[in-house]
Amino acid sequence: MQNFLKSLSTVLTDICEKDLKIESTDEKFWSDAIKDYPPAGPDFLTEDKIRSYREYCSIDPVDEAFLLEAGKIIRENENFKLLAWYFYWRLFQKGEAVTHPCPQLKNALGERSGAFYLLVSFSMTPLLLESHRKLGIPEQTTRDTLKEIRGYNDNYKRGFKNIPGMYASQFTWLRTYLNGSIFVRIGRLEFWLRTYYGGVRAYRNVDTGKVIALSEPNVEFTDEGHVKNKNVPMDNVPGWISTFSEDENYVSGNPVIPEGRALNRKTRLDKKEWKCVLEKDACVMDMHIPPGGGLTPEIFTQSVKDGVSFFRKYFPQSEPMAVVCHSWLFNPDIGEALPAGAHLPEIQKDLYLYPIMSGNEDGLWFIFLQDKFNIETAPRDTSLQRSIIGYLQKGRRWRCGGMFLLVEDVDSLGKQKYRSEIQGVLND
Ligand SMILES: CC(C)(COP(=O)(O)OP(=O)(O)OC[C@H]1O[C@@H](n2cnc3c(N)ncnc32)[C@H](O)[C@@H]1OP(=O)(O)O)[C@@H](O)C(=O)NCCC(=O)NCCS
Repeated sequence: MQNFLKSLSTVLTDICEKDLKIESTDEKFWSDAIKDYPPAGPDFLTEDKIRSYREYCSIDPVDEAFLLEAGKIIRENENFKLLAWYFYWRLFQKGEAVTHPCPQLKNALGERSGAFYLLVSFSMTPLLLESHRKLGIPEQTTRDTLKEIRGYNDNYKRGFKNIPGMYASQFTWLRTYLNGSIFVRIGRLEFWLRTYYGGVRAYRNVDTGKVIALSEPNVEFTDEGHVKNKNVPMDNVPGWISTFSEDENYVSGNPVIPEGRALNRKTRLDKKEWKCVLEKDACVMDMHIPPGGGLTPEIFTQSVKDGVSFFRKYFPQSEPMAVVCHSWLFNPDIGEALPAGAHLPEIQKDLYLYPIMSGNEDGLWFIFLQDKFNIETAPRDTSLQRSIIGYLQKGRRWRCGGMFLLVEDVDSLGKQKYRSEIQGVLND
């Protein structure tokens, strides 16, 4: 009973994490979580559950012994059990973000610190099965979606000489899959049904089917058509600010070309001829790219097509307008950073790229797995890492980019529809 009175800060002090900054709201979450604490401890830490969830999450069986051992250490320590329950309860059961930093647990758990987060992440398995069952999503799709946990374990093993675990920074993202979210893995990619966070407005010509995107207003661009970031000194170059206007008959604004750049000129579209097909708050398939490489244009196309079919079959009322994504993968300059024959520039040719606000290190974590990117110490193990380091050493600006692919254009994948049609549209 004594443990049930312990505060979060006491537990953190007991496990040598006393410097972690937590707020009174965190203590409130903690005390509410502990009220629900099961007398026998969290069942997701039992041996049977660890074995079963490892299999559900498609984690390599060779990692099982290490995880069982970590589970035993956690089960034997009241503080770890309480902390595991707290994260499970706050993130997965209540769907609430964890706003304080996650303890690194290096002092208390050594090389098993990452396994703590991996084992807590396993606890989302029954919740995701139940959430998907209620939504009518087949169990195989749930199992595929749980491969995200395997991907995170693979990242950790890559960063920690093959030791199983999960980065705390990745762990907290997992709540986005739960509590009624329609966020599934279909083939190589993941799609989250949600409203579009914005970036551009896209219009389709009602006669020709051609597409053009216009920038949102008041965006500051460089002369090259990239979004300026005032925190990045390299962006302190001449530029211009976008405008957008709409009346009964016309929309007018700065065009964005599918190669991912905004133009400092005006395009006026007659609303009788041009229909808005994508704008902020439209229903979209927000795409995410799980780790693992092997993203050939063919695999990408198949996954997108299967994703569209999935939503048509299981969520016919949702009618998403587009597949969208903001990521380092859609940096319009990526072709200059990668070796000849790389997959990403080929994939990009079929998509409508557009510029977005980006720091100069955004997305590098997924490649170098460093808390704070450091070019001197960044690993150079793979050709991707080496080519990006070479690119940065040339003084090039690293950035992320946005993309959309209208669902109605999915059958045109492979034809570079947007790029081949845009000149005609701009010259009309
Ligand atoms: C984006 C991604 C799918 C592209 O894969 P791809 O172009 O098909 O890459 P390939 O499988 O052809 O691999 C090419 C090289 O890159 C390496 N590589 C692939 N993904 C890597 C990664 N995340 N980190 C470091 N190196 C990576 C491969 O090991 C290979 O190196 P090698 O030539 O030395 O053997 C891949 O980089 C990936 O899985 N990234 C992690 C997920 C991610 O970044 N998501 C987006 C978050 S915003």
